[in-house]
Amino acid sequence: MKRLRTSQGARLRVWETFRLNAEDAAWATGNISGAAIVFDAEGMKVPHPIPYQGSKRNLAPQILAHFPERINTLIEPFAGSGAITLAAAARGLADRYYLNDLNAPLVELWRMIIEEPHQLSKQYEKIWRDQHGDRREYYDRIRNEFNQARRPHHFLYLLARCVKASIRYNSNGQFNQSPDNRRMGALPTTMRDHILGASHLLKGKTKCASEDYRTIVRRARPEDLIYMDPPYQGVCGARDPRYLKGVLFDEFVEALRDLNSCDISYIVSYDGRTGDKVHGHALPPNLQLRHIELDAGRSSQETLLGRAAVTYESLYLSPALEERLRTCRRHAEQKQEQLVLLEAGN
Ligand SMILES: C[S@@+](CC[C@H](N)C(=O)[O-])C[C@H]1O[C@@H](n2cnc3c(N)ncnc32)[C@H](O)[C@@H]1O
Repeated sequence: MKRLRTSQGARLRVWETFRLNAEDAAWATGNISGAAIVFDAEGMKVPHPIPYQGSKRNLAPQILAHFPERINTLIEPFAGSGAITLAAAARGLADRYYLNDLNAPLVELWRMIIEEPHQLSKQYEKIWRDQHGDRREYYDRIRNEFNQARRPHHFLYLLARCVKASIRYNSNGQFNQSPDNRRMGALPTTMRDHILGASHLLKGKTKCASEDYRTIVRRARPEDLIYMDPPYQGVCGARDPRYLKGVLFDEFVEALRDLNSCDISYIVSYDGRTGDKVHGHALPPNLQLRHIELDAGRSSQETLLGRAAVTYESLYLSPALEERLRTCRRHAEQKQEQLVLLEAGN
């Protein structure tokens, strides 16, 4: 074990039990540093290279429980950190993946994670190791460089260091989020493990795009599955400082109606409630969606306020998906009956 000193004198413990060149093979065999591996609620090892406010990483097992068998392409039109795609890919749930987000630099970062993981890891390591001296001044310099050139490794560093890993843009589309001086950003070794892990899961089977979600969902086929996690309604509207552009409720409902008419399977994460306090509008009943509430636990804000209210996130399943899940259940029951008959005959 090694100790590093940050510029502020805080001690940072770095476990050197893993080396920078652990590489893809180690990820594939599961033989990679324990410090960097992220296990989800089901104990599944899932990489998560992009720190992102609103990531569905913790809820992924609950959401994946509603996936059908045999998915041709899993489409994420509002990909963000791609938590659901990564969790699904770790379990081999789809043949192909389609990551889309209106935020073009985020999609460039995804492209580099998948296609050039070694190069990106090296660039992140350099930028991270150079952050000594005045870290605020350093952060501002990287932020200026990002606003001029939109380079993926600058973006990754900003996300790793900024307040709550939360993207903020001003009205000119310039990234203006401040640094959180308590966050150093993931250690280069940890970041490398996540980047290589994500690349290993997605390379050769993933398409990336940066278009409006309505263009992407029109490309879905009945054997695909769309998972949608649009910006929260509280911040929806024509302009949303977190995402450059928001999603209008009526347009979103219209897009879902079109998907229903083409028998497309989809799942939507859409707001929810904390205790009795409901966030945003529910999706209209005439879309005939099945509404499920996922237990997201106590929010840190509620805990700080000494309250016990639990947050529930709303999940909606499309009619075509419901039908597909019913068919899957019927097949499983038939298989079970056949097995019982076979065993009885022996
Ligand atoms: C709540 S976040 C998704 C978080 C993601 N599920 C995760 O696990 O990280 C919503 C995302 O939608 C993107 N977005 C906003 N408006 C969009 C639009 N009209 N079309 C496509 N993406 C959009 C934002 O850039 C943002 O990354």
